[in-house]
Amino acid sequence: MPYTRAPRRKVTVIGAGNVGATVAQRVVETGLADVVLLDIVPGLPQGKALDLAEAAPILGYDVSVTGTNDYADTAGSAVIVVTSGLARQPGMSRDDLLAKNAQIVGGVVEQAAKVSPDAVIVVVTNPLDAMCHVALKTSGFPPSRVIGMAGVLDSARFRTFVAMELGVSPANTSAFVLGGHGDTMVPVPSYCTVGGVPITQLLSQEQIERIVQRTRDGGAEIVALLKSGSAYYAPGAATGEMIDAILEDRQKILPCAAYLGGEYGVQGLFVGVPVRLGRQGVVEIVEVTLSDDERRQFDHSAAAVKELVEKLATLS
Ligand code: APR
Repeated sequence: MPYTRAPRRKVTVIGAGNVGATVAQRVVETGLADVVLLDIVPGLPQGKALDLAEAAPILGYDVSVTGTNDYADTAGSAVIVVTSGLARQPGMSRDDLLAKNAQIVGGVVEQAAKVSPDAVIVVVTNPLDAMCHVALKTSGFPPSRVIGMAGVLDSARFRTFVAMELGVSPANTSAFVLGGHGDTMVPVPSYCTVGGVPITQLLSQEQIERIVQRTRDGGAEIVALLKSGSAYYAPGAATGEMIDAILEDRQKILPCAAYLGGEYGVQGLFVGVPVRLGRQGVVEIVEVTLSDDERRQFDHSAAAVKELVEKLATLS
């Protein structure tokens, strides 16, 4: 006898490209929520969603995954993940990309926020910190419900390199990376540990500096290897961890791009900081003590984000 089960909580993923499809895969494979995958290209989200649905009997999940080009299908989402955007094309300047992606993110957020007014928005599209501003402005949501995914990914890269250097389990490592998502990110070795032991006691200064640099170049390293396209497995996993913390109200402290209202001496900018994540989004911004040098790097990073946001205002 056919039976239509009651809908579960819903996660909408906008952009069914590499990152979006990987996020959808993470969410369904962990059984966290029903997923609606939306893209501007007809057939693309439908095809990827059907492919994911056909993996369910093997992997054993029973949440639903559907693809659409219509925002009406995303109504009532608990989380909206924004991955839609363009990659930088040959001949396209950074400013061109900034303007184009701002237009895309603004457009999708406007439509998605209207039908899911209580959602938490997780922004993934680059340039990340600037796109968070666009999402905040367009949605009209409180800043606590607009969060950027960067720090979890950057920290995971840092942890991976620490684990490789020491030959320990990556799961044994803990780290966070502050600041903007880009060249000015600030890995903070003094807060990085392996089994609770600070890495400053396990690695030489030279080793740490090498890992810090590789983390800063982490995205570019993958792009150079792939030749076309950019990373998506680790970005998908990082976004998945944030969605899990939000939906399950885990009150987990994770490094995310959050809107600062005076914390860390920064007013009105999205910058990567440790935040406590729960059902309402950012529950708390955790302020940690930084050394003078870390502080200088953080301020430099925040200034770079400010510059980008000001540039955005002149472009739009
Ligand atoms: N509405 C909906 N979807 C759109 C729109 C739009 N207005 N514009 C573009 N898209 C879709 C594209 O059709 C494409 O399927 O966004 C998707 C982007 O996917 P990819 O090109 O595969 O890019 P991806 O690797 O997934 O990266 C997405 O995440 O990590 C960041 O820097 C990365 O900004 C990039 C984003």
